[in-house]
Amino acid sequence: MGLMDGKKGIIFGIANERSYAFFIAKQLIEQGAELGFTFLPIGKMEHRVRKAAQTLGIDEPWMVECDANDDASLDRVFDRWQADHGRLDFVVHSIAFADKDYLKPDMFHKTPRQTFLSAIDTSAYTLLAMAQRALPLMTDGGAIVNMSYYGGEKVTPGYNVMGIAKACLEHTTRYLAYELGRPGRDVRVNCISAGPFKTLAGAGVGGMDDMIKYQEMASSMKRANTGEEVGDAAVYLLSDLSSGVTGETIHVDCGFSIVGVPEKPTGEG
Ligand SMILES: NC(=O)c1ccc[n+]([C@@H]2O[C@H](COP(=O)([O-])OP(=O)(O)OC[C@H]3O[C@@H](n4cnc5c(N)ncnc54)[C@H](O)[C@@H]3O)[C@@H](O)[C@H]2O)c1
Repeated sequence: MGLMDGKKGIIFGIANERSYAFFIAKQLIEQGAELGFTFLPIGKMEHRVRKAAQTLGIDEPWMVECDANDDASLDRVFDRWQADHGRLDFVVHSIAFADKDYLKPDMFHKTPRQTFLSAIDTSAYTLLAMAQRALPLMTDGGAIVNMSYYGGEKVTPGYNVMGIAKACLEHTTRYLAYELGRPGRDVRVNCISAGPFKTLAGAGVGGMDDMIKYQEMASSMKRANTGEEVGDAAVYLLSDLSSGVTGETIHVDCGFSIVGVPEKPTGEG
């Protein structure tokens, strides 16, 4: 018996088999969830998402295109879901975007207005936009999970405007959790703050290799987290195991975020 048996939800944010959303989907499927997917309507995304779903063992995936910056596009996703499935139990928000020209050290202070606003729009407001549309379909209550990074709490050179967007996303999580948690709505909203990971979006952040090496050196567990570990945390937050948890940001970073000043590496165990 799986923790997600009988639960159905939409995964926003698979770009390929390296995406955090892919690992979340993998672990949800292992626990019995039924999934639908969206793809950004650019380039080969539809093909890539279909291929990723097939790697997950779904030959005919439920897939709808979605540009989350476009309200009409989001409406179409949730309308289609309602028509095809009726009830919705969970949503995974695993999307982000910022102009990579400004994701480099010493570039934050040069960020133009439009770059700043567009990072917050795609990476934070879209959580609210999805929650608005999910709520009427979550007739038996539900759960929403999104993805953040430590650069939303502390300055991480190169993460820049994306750090601002993550701070906004994490606080949007709390305000949404407060309003959606009340009896009759029963929708929980939580965030996973994951360690650096080499994905398409990750590659856009300057110094990603160094960020991963730094986590391996400075974290409590002296290693990088895996995608599956992030997926398992999502299973917890989307399943009834976490029925009393909402508005939280859970770090899945091998204990990186609890360390202030790391020891100097000695090369000894
Ligand atoms: N990779 C990391 O180091 C890392 C660390 C912590 C948190 N995160 C977060 O994890 C989430 C997933 O990113 P990832 O690293 O798996 O990269 P990814 O490139 O695999 O996924 C990013 C996704 O965002 C989607 N997207 C971008 N703009 C969109 C839009 N307008 N509408 C709909 N979809 C859009 C892309 O299509 C893609 O599927 C993001 O929120 C990211 O900030 C990543």
